[in-house]
Amino acid sequence: MTRIALVTGANRGLGRATALALARNRIRVVAASRGGASEVVDEIVESGGEAIAIQLDVADLPSLEAARGAVLAGIRQEWNASTLDVLVNNAGVGLFAPLGDVTAEDFDATFAVNVRGPLFVTQAFLPHLSDGARIVNVSSSLSRHVSPATSVYAASKKALEALTRSLALELGPRGIRVNSIAPGPTATDFNGGAMRDSDAMREALSEQTALGRVGDPDDIADAISALVSHEFRWATGERIEVSGGVLL
Ligand SMILES: NC(=O)c1ccc[n+]([C@@H]2O[C@H](COP(=O)([O-])OP(=O)(O)OC[C@H]3O[C@@H](n4cnc5c(N)ncnc54)[C@H](OP(=O)(O)O)[C@@H]3O)[C@@H](O)[C@H]2O)c1
Repeated sequence: MTRIALVTGANRGLGRATALALARNRIRVVAASRGGASEVVDEIVESGGEAIAIQLDVADLPSLEAARGAVLAGIRQEWNASTLDVLVNNAGVGLFAPLGDVTAEDFDATFAVNVRGPLFVTQAFLPHLSDGARIVNVSSSLSRHVSPATSVYAASKKALEALTRSLALELGPRGIRVNSIAPGPTATDFNGGAMRDSDAMREALSEQTALGRVGDPDDIADAISALVSHEFRWATGERIEVSGGVLL
């Protein structure tokens, strides 16, 4: 049976690339984003895949109930389905500030998207995940190595990895695999687009990377696609870094 995946933050960057990669692998995609990711849906449909768009702000807890209703109505209407088989908690925000500049508001906003979001999105959809479903939480190589001014962001991703391991244990009896993917520096809008647009930043990071360049969105998206495949069925609670070997 054709599987259905929900991807958060599917409108751009790694989420968009992941939605496209899953669709290439014949997975139906619910592309979730704050604005409703209709462009990526059009792109998927034009290339022969299947997708619907829904609106989901992962930091807005009161809106989760309506978003869940919209997803369930959408998959029933489009595919006569009632469950999801893949959940990719991709939506995330960076916070790059030295300690002296970190505010409580910034801290809360970062954790609201990067930690609280994946937790409560997973909770909201848990009754609607098929047994044997795959959950992928998008972490960061910064949970392993240290870079200047990344304390809060790195802590949020480390917290997400802790959630990943706990939920892998908790959801194991249903056969649900929960893993995290930890991208290294990747050329998206992230961090003001620095990894894509700043030659100096790209060169510096490339020199620190075993494979000699920063990542492309497809490098990460294809890894997520592989991680949710049958071949990775025996992995759960794992952190899989896809960084080209940054700061090994
Ligand atoms: N690029 C990298 O170097 C890198 C490295 C390691 C990890 N990551 C992680 O990879 C994930 C994707 O990052 P990216 O590189 O694709 O960054 P990006 O291009 O900045 O995209 C971030 C995505 O997250 C969405 N988002 C932010 N807040 C949201 C919210 N409250 N509700 C729903 N969606 C929200 C954005 O939606 P809007 O368009 O509505 O803002 C956008 O779709 C993040 O978790 C990030 O931490 C990225």
